[in-house]
Amino acid sequence: MRSSGCFFLIFLLLFSSQDSFSSALSEAEVSFIAHRQLLSLPENGDLPENYEYQVDVNLTFPNARLRRAYIALQAWKEAIVSDPHKITTSWVGADVCDYKGVFCAPAPDDPKSTVVAGVDLNNADLAGFLPVELGLMSDLALFHVNSNRFCGIIPQSFSKMAVLYEFDVSNNRLVGPFPMPVTAMPALKYLDLRYNDFEGSIPPELFDMDLDAVFLNNNRFQNEIPENLGNSPASVIVFANNRLTGCIPHSIKKMENTLNEIIFTNNKLTGCLPMEIGSLENLTVFAAASNSLSGVLPKSFSGIKSVELIDISNNFLTGFVPEGICKLPNLVNFTFSYNYFRGESPECESSRTKDVVVDDTDNCFPDRPKQKASKTCTPVVNRPVDCGKSKCVRPSLPTPSRPHKPKPTPDVESSRNKN
Ligand SMILES: *[C@@H]1O[C@H](CO)[C@@H](O)[C@H](O)[C@H]1NC(C)=O
Ligand SMILES: *[C@@H]1O[C@H](CO)[C@@H](O)[C@H](O)[C@H]1NC(C)=O
Ligand SMILES: *[C@@H]1O[C@H](CO)[C@@H](O)[C@H](O)[C@H]1NC(C)=O
Repeated sequence: MRSSGCFFLIFLLLFSSQDSFSSALSEAEVSFIAHRQLLSLPENGDLPENYEYQVDVNLTFPNARLRRAYIALQAWKEAIVSDPHKITTSWVGADVCDYKGVFCAPAPDDPKSTVVAGVDLNNADLAGFLPVELGLMSDLALFHVNSNRFCGIIPQSFSKMAVLYEFDVSNNRLVGPFPMPVTAMPALKYLDLRYNDFEGSIPPELFDMDLDAVFLNNNRFQNEIPENLGNSPASVIVFANNRLTGCIPHSIKKMENTLNEIIFTNNKLTGCLPMEIGSLENLTVFAAASNSLSGVLPKSFSGIKSVELIDISNNFLTGFVPEGICKLPNLVNFTFSYNYFRGESPECESSRTKDVVVDDTDNCFPDRPKQKASKTCTPVVNRPVDCGKSKCVRPSLPTPSRPHKPKPTPDVESSRNKN
């Protein structure tokens, strides 16, 4: 097994080292790397107890924690099959603090010991996998590997990162179910999994963690958003561009003092917009465009006092755009195009003159330009959904015409700085 793996590795290296610039991995390369990871993983996917003592290292280190980091980093170097910028070339010898992309600091629990506190390999364009030995780096506070070509899964051993604060693996080729090791990281605040190929359900454990920002967008997550969403103290949560179904949980009300941005755009969510969204006084961005939401827009939305952007376009919403929303003090953009609304509060008309974008294109307004044909509107408008009774069931709507292709979410980057 191992020797054929090595043969393929040489083959791959010959292939990719001809160009020292970035090249997207082919499907075959991705599955080759994932297969190599599988071969390297212990039976339970985790590191054996006392693994560090089984590794012979003929170097001396200032402390055992740096020796552990050395073992992890050497295993990682071995797991990297393409390094066009030659970053890991510097990963030689006992001085791990001098390795490119590796940052040391005094240990919080023992300031006289230096430990590896951060890995920052953002935009390094590395291809390979994350080896189980990385679990030895239990002093990491930051793990940033965004925009590389890492394949395979996140090993179970990552659950040993007891002080990890920021975990960013976005924009790679990672696969598998939601990486449960992250839910075992007690200090985690920033979780960024966006732009990978994770699939399956989002686990409820995620929303019982003390996270500040959660980026799950642009994966293949499916099934319902867990009911305990509202337990999360996060200020930013992005679900956009997945395959999530079911309703927006009513528990969202519990986020009234903490939530700043929530983005559900481009999923397969159904049901009515929960009235409880109106309690989110600190929310600045609410986006749920390009889903299959139905029913009316709750009057309570006029309670989202801080809101700047509301985007509920491209759904099956009906009724009137209620009073109060268009005159919210911080509103800059209220987009409800591509729905079945048939009227709006007069304030929306006057807001348009005050530099607020109010986009009502392609609804069922009798007296506005660019609206749906009445034969498209009538069957939907005549069968209103009773949101008071609807217990999150898929509404029986006629197969609607969708002249408008869902666009990728414009705002998923969020206002937060990423580097
Ligand atoms: C390990 O270190 C010893 C003593 O420093 C040396 O004699 C030996 O050759 C080294 N072995 C390897 C494999 O480098
Ligand atoms: C939420 O908004 C209120 C006023 O609307 C403000 O007093 C409070 O400090 C805000 N909370 C946070 C966490 O920003
Ligand atoms: C308003 O928001 C929508 C949806 O996010 C966006 O597509 C549009 O570009 C925005 N309009 C302006 C003028 O910012």
